[in-house]
Amino acid sequence: MTSPRKIVLAVGGGIAAYKAALLARECLRRGVEVRVAMTPASTRFVGPVTFTGLTGRPPVVDLWDPGHGGEVHVELADWADAIVVAPATASLLAKMVAGLADDPVTATLLCFGGPRLVAPAMHHRMWANDATQRNVEQLRRDGVRFVGPTDGPLASGASGLGRMAEPDVIADALERMLDELDGGADDAADLRGRTLVVTAGPTHEPLDPVRFLGNRSSGKMGYALAERAQRRGARVVLVSGPVALPAPAGVTVHGVTTALEMEAAVAPHLATADAIIMAAAVADFRPAEVSSSKLKKQAGVDVTTVALVRNPDILGGLGQARAASGTRRPMLVGFAVETEDVVGEARRKRISKQVDLVVGNHAGVAFEGDENEAVLVSATREDATGRLSKHALADRILDAVRAQLEG
Ligand code: CTP
Repeated sequence: MTSPRKIVLAVGGGIAAYKAALLARECLRRGVEVRVAMTPASTRFVGPVTFTGLTGRPPVVDLWDPGHGGEVHVELADWADAIVVAPATASLLAKMVAGLADDPVTATLLCFGGPRLVAPAMHHRMWANDATQRNVEQLRRDGVRFVGPTDGPLASGASGLGRMAEPDVIADALERMLDELDGGADDAADLRGRTLVVTAGPTHEPLDPVRFLGNRSSGKMGYALAERAQRRGARVVLVSGPVALPAPAGVTVHGVTTALEMEAAVAPHLATADAIIMAAAVADFRPAEVSSSKLKKQAGVDVTTVALVRNPDILGGLGQARAASGTRRPMLVGFAVETEDVVGEARRKRISKQVDLVVGNHAGVAFEGDENEAVLVSATREDATGRLSKHALADRILDAVRAQLEG
């Protein structure tokens, strides 16, 4: 990253405020100058002195502090190239929408005309609440960028979508934003205004409390699609099975474990998405019974069987529902990972699942690595891509999506 590199880190009043200290350190490590503004509530979670120690300057915690000798929010807003709000509580998002300016964070934000990156963190029910979602939509329309939240354990002990993105992920998103300011990025915003749903990773089908049936999908292809679609301006919902990948910046991640959970997470988007891309390796079967206690081997039993039942074909179900509705929206894209006759299987699956495009690839290259080689099979074309990175393949697939949405 070259200049500009001066940010105000605006810290909201949630437990994730302790991670804002790590974010400040991470930004400094990457050569970004950091000044900190804190809401009064945030000072209850993390001491201002922590930020003084990290950044070499006391954070602004009080608009009325005579030590600042002027309008400190104006001075901060003039100084910064970008503002990162982390953590952004539900209340802080609402204040941003309303244009309130009653503390150093909100006053600086209101005074600032440059790029803003927001990392929400709150209880999953607060995030899911219509009021919060309305505010997020409005802020997006106002040009605010989002990173996270992610799915996982929350401070309350509950689990769900509401965890703040990790500091290095926020720093990545910040760098990308600043790079774009530099004119470094030349991504066409050709998917702006579109909503894309992408599934990624494997599903895990539980057998007992410690075992599951899974597969070797790394999730990299789906994550690359989500990341590229977001960079090209789309609003992206990523429905992800269990993977070891960080949430891409600006993408809403909905974490699931089983095929049934994935189906439930995807289904509501049929009515609203412009395209649904099923890159997940969904398990076709699940154990018929899930034991509540760990299954034990029995003396003298050398061979055992596990009864399996069919999982729903999620993509096939979407194809069927769309056909029944008589529309061509959303565009539906599937993958066919095969060990032989890739093109034939891709053709067959496109027709049987009633979808627009199937990306056929060989199991030998599809899993785990950073590269892939595919053939894009639609009703009218079959394009072999040659070997390329998963990000480049993502762009090829998104080109096809854009072409169909525009045509
Ligand atoms: N898929 C799905 N639900 C399933 C299985 C697969 O939505 N239960 C989706 C995958 O995400 C992928 C496409 O369907 O986009 C093809 O997946 P694949 O496993 O190759 O197809 P299957 O229908 O399982 O075909 P087969 O078992 O004959 O290979």
